[in-house]
Amino acid sequence: MGDTNATLNAKGDTHDFEIKSGTLGPDVVDIRKLYANTGMFTYDPGFTSTASCDSALTYIDGEEGVLLHRGYPIGQLAEHSSFMEVAHLLLNGDLPSAEELDDFTYTITRHTMLHDQLRQFYQGFRRDAHPMAIMCGAVGALSAFYHDSTDISDPEHRKISSHRLIAKMPTIAAMAYKYAIGQPFMQPDNSLSYTGNFLRMTFGVPAEEYEVNPVVERALDRIFILHADHEQNASTSTVRLAGSSGANPFACIAAGIACLWGPAHGGANEAALNMLHEIGTPDKIPEYIARAKNKDDPFRLMGFGHRVYKNYDPRATVMQKTVREVFESLNVSDPVFEVALQLEEMALNDDYFVEKKLFPNVDFYSGVILSAIGFPTTMFTALFALARTVGWVAQWNEMISDPAQRIGRPRQLYTGPAQRDYVPVDKR
Ligand code: SDX
Repeated sequence: MGDTNATLNAKGDTHDFEIKSGTLGPDVVDIRKLYANTGMFTYDPGFTSTASCDSALTYIDGEEGVLLHRGYPIGQLAEHSSFMEVAHLLLNGDLPSAEELDDFTYTITRHTMLHDQLRQFYQGFRRDAHPMAIMCGAVGALSAFYHDSTDISDPEHRKISSHRLIAKMPTIAAMAYKYAIGQPFMQPDNSLSYTGNFLRMTFGVPAEEYEVNPVVERALDRIFILHADHEQNASTSTVRLAGSSGANPFACIAAGIACLWGPAHGGANEAALNMLHEIGTPDKIPEYIARAKNKDDPFRLMGFGHRVYKNYDPRATVMQKTVREVFESLNVSDPVFEVALQLEEMALNDDYFVEKKLFPNVDFYSGVILSAIGFPTTMFTALFALARTVGWVAQWNEMISDPAQRIGRPRQLYTGPAQRDYVPVDKR
């Protein structure tokens, strides 16, 4: 057991702060009394060294490349579990029994339909609207539909809102795709799995039966598992901050979708595949690696680097393995996969990437497989949002049900002008 106190000597005074330990990972210095005791704030733009909450959902060891959901390693969950099982695990704290899993899946399956009024909502978008713009709008619009469950202090209201969000995201995402290509929306089919239903709503047409390919269904379900939750990332922190004011849960998830869209976050999977296509052939790789290393060039290797992982993102390992399995099973190939493999190989043997500990992250290979399944690049982040909704609602529930929960309200280091008097416009 290490020190239990941290001492700050500042401006002639000494202040003690408690050191708290979690189950795993770094200890924290509890600085909640820092401003009251010292009149100073901490300063940590980007929150590189700041724990915003305590959470029991997900643990990441960035140095070792470890990712646990409620203690279970992501590699084992990806290998043996299903997205519905992981959703239950994150929401309820443990892997479900067979009966619990059936009940949970039954409940989610029966919330997949959308209010018919929402079909009109889609008509307001241009056909070339980015699916993430539609997802932001449609999920935010759902906050206008469910007046039967708006009391977030009521666990039952929180539960049904969580189930509705998890259940309806595939329908909303599939409708965004159908709207973009001018095909009719497909209604959910309750006889299919969560992921099989999504594939049919996306790629099926009313004119004929749609056969779910079990290899694709398993691969996509695994991809959803890899994207389910990831500790206090930018979009999850956005959902928590929005939720801390007591806002409507659908509006909070819409805020998370907006944040995820950025190319530095969930938008990287779309940007990574676009980058691989721009590179085109392995002989062009050195040119792009040089650009990524050039301080004067804003270009970055998309799908590389991570705020927390300073080792290989364990999700990227599973993703690369899944690409190989799907390509082999479907007897397909894609030259862009070869470019990705060689780009990884060259980058991981380049001092710049080694010194800065830049490894492939979850977004580096995901686009290769999503493209092989048939999704356009514009749908990649929408799929990320679909899967991350499980983590967002689990984190939101954990926050709202914490008795110590307060509205999030960071402070700042003010660098603007000191107080000055107003000058009438004829005197300026
Ligand atoms: C996700 O937080 C999460 O958990 C996110 C996520 C999740 O599941 O929720 O894991 C999902 O967002 C994965 C990350 C997807 N983004 C990308 O792939 C975009 C490319 N990567 C970067 O933009 C960057 O690595 C970030 C945004 C991911 C991390 O940025 P940080 O932690 O703020 O690191 P940084 O920008 O300060 O970079 C440190 C150094 C810099 O060089 P120096 O100023 O020290 O000289 O590394 C360089 C950067 O220039 N660098 C890169 C690079 N990423 C960082 N150089 C080239 N290519 C890159 N990809």
